[in-house]
Amino acid sequence: MRISVIGTGYLGTTHAACMAELGFEVVGLDSDPKKIEQLASGVLPFHEPGLPELLRKHTASGRLRFTTSYAEVGAWADVHFIAVGTPQKAGDHAADMTYVDGATSALAGHITRDCLIVGKSTVPVGTARRLGNLVRESTSGDVKVDLLWNPEFLREGYAVEDTLRPDRLVAGGDSAAAIDLLKLVYAKALKSGTPFISTDLETAELVKAAANAFLATKISFINAFSEVTEHVGGDIRVLADAIGLDNRIGRRFLNAGVGFGGGCLPKDIRALQARVSELGLDRTMRFLSEVDEINLRRRDRVVHLATEILKDLQGRKIAVLGVAFKPHSDDVRDSPALDVAAQLFNAGADVSVFDPEAMENARKRFPRLNYTKSAAEALENSALTILLTEWDEFKELNPTEVGDIVESKAIIDGRNVLHVQDWLDAGWRFESLGRRSV
Ligand code: UDX
Repeated sequence: MRISVIGTGYLGTTHAACMAELGFEVVGLDSDPKKIEQLASGVLPFHEPGLPELLRKHTASGRLRFTTSYAEVGAWADVHFIAVGTPQKAGDHAADMTYVDGATSALAGHITRDCLIVGKSTVPVGTARRLGNLVRESTSGDVKVDLLWNPEFLREGYAVEDTLRPDRLVAGGDSAAAIDLLKLVYAKALKSGTPFISTDLETAELVKAAANAFLATKISFINAFSEVTEHVGGDIRVLADAIGLDNRIGRRFLNAGVGFGGGCLPKDIRALQARVSELGLDRTMRFLSEVDEINLRRRDRVVHLATEILKDLQGRKIAVLGVAFKPHSDDVRDSPALDVAAQLFNAGADVSVFDPEAMENARKRFPRLNYTKSAAEALENSALTILLTEWDEFKELNPTEVGDIVESKAIIDGRNVLHVQDWLDAGWRFESLGRRSV
């Protein structure tokens, strides 16, 4: 089977390389010739554990190649995966459908053989049916083209694992033959027992929206309780452990801290609300506004704590540890860490930043911070240390050694990952999100 993957971002590149790993002939397409040139030479333009190896292996074997030509893929592939981005529209909560619509029309205009189009991008409900009609109108009657929607649930940092061994596969569409063809693509995962949920287009689109809305809600739920425990003097970690032991609730995604960010959860909860309002169900997803607000308030809380500790931020040196939206990623899209660093800078602080992977991306977005070569350099003579992305290297910092580098021993643990007593024993003032000051 010949597979094309349209859009070579985090999702598309991972999908293309994993399809090659499964033994298929794959071509990745992107409109950006620079990106295509890089990928074709086996160079991954972002950080994703395990992916550089797969990319090198399969560009070398010839099973994975890259192109910018829709004519080439339209005449070649049996299955086309659409994996382009659906970012938040500027000045609006809705998803920007320019890339999905553009890619689908461009592909449809170049299809010269029977094929299956499989949408993977996260889209507002109703998109797949609309695109199905668009494809039918734009392809000639001589070719048979089916369309399915097969949402992707991969997490950055674990993208290869999540693609090769997903916890479930969901596919929406009207054609049983198309579903059977997609099952051949995923035969290996299915053989090892991965559940395959076959449904209609709308349910498939909504499964993705619902999964991300649920995860975001879970994080904001625990972060809302953080606001209470900070006030009354409880410990949010113990609370999360205790409710998490109820397996109807579960402990995962109850880590309180500076909140969620990244290229998915924030924009997906906004796009879901926008779409549902557009459908006339104004009140239905209103709670997601609260989820969003609780999340953003956590960032303000860190800035507030910093101001409380330093009194005046003007000219004070603050070491920010971490700018990626989460560890094992170099992604700074909607990163709580970078947002806090930028807010501190805008309030007059002298902000030194270190992140093991995300420095280049952060610098592009916010060039005015002081980007250092190591955590030690960021910490040197700082009046306050703030941990905002829970990389292992930061979790393992030795409070006594760090105490010798900084100007003042005060730390805010924005992810609740440090051993409080160790830091207190080494003479630090310790602040965190969801626990009272110590
Ligand atoms: C998410 C979904 O998990 C994935 O299924 C979907 O396909 C894309 O969106 P991702 O954005 O890679 O994946 O990151 P995820 O691991 O979900 O974390 C999202 C954000 O939530 C991060 O900023 C993380 O730090 C934060 N988070 C996560 C918490 O603040 N607390 C938690 O307990 C878990």
